[in-house]
Amino acid sequence: MPTWGHLGLQDSASPLMEQLIFFHDHAMVVLILITTLVGYMMSTLFFNTFTNRFLLEGQTIEIVWTVLPALILIFIALPSLRLLYLLDEVNNPSVTLKAIGHQWYWSYEYSDFLQVEFDSYMIPSNELPEDGFRLLDVDNRTVLPMNTQIRVLISAADVIHSWTVPALGVKADAIPGRLNQVSFLMNRPGLFYGQCSEICGANHSFMPIVVESVSVNSFLNWISTSSEA
Ligand code: CUA
Repeated sequence: MPTWGHLGLQDSASPLMEQLIFFHDHAMVVLILITTLVGYMMSTLFFNTFTNRFLLEGQTIEIVWTVLPALILIFIALPSLRLLYLLDEVNNPSVTLKAIGHQWYWSYEYSDFLQVEFDSYMIPSNELPEDGFRLLDVDNRTVLPMNTQIRVLISAADVIHSWTVPALGVKADAIPGRLNQVSFLMNRPGLFYGQCSEICGANHSFMPIVVESVSVNSFLNWISTSSEA
């Protein structure tokens, strides 16, 4: 989860988020190289006193400064596309979760099991326990098994919301009348926090998401006690 003064991405909890972090670092290296080079050239241009009244063209340099940026862009675009398609791929999920956005809470349905559905509201600050996270903790957490391919079907009941969990590298808009899907695999247990990421009204900031990653056995225990049938 994010903590004070944290400027980078959150620690990954899924292989795809790990790849996203690698891609971010790769793009950052390219960015720093370009900024340094351009910065150096601009300062040289600014501080020297060279003039050439007869300079009109330079075929060689023009080819270099056209082709070089194109090559650099390809080196960013190809890994980016690879990740894009990797993120979009849903490979036979073992558990499907439905997340429905409401003004202003999330409701969840585990349609693989009998009658498991509940609402998930933020815990208001005045009811928060001493060790709670303000504006982030919810009354009913979304429990999911780790080391299992999960699919989340996302929709909304009123306006557009967005279901987001940064540590898992997933974010999809929840749109009324539409089903969007994301898929992930959690490679460690823990609590992964997220917030609605589409301005959806007065309490947009107060409909957080908490995914609780547990072992498969604990998940089955939880689901059988939660099942109303
Ligand atoms: Cu729901 Cu913003």
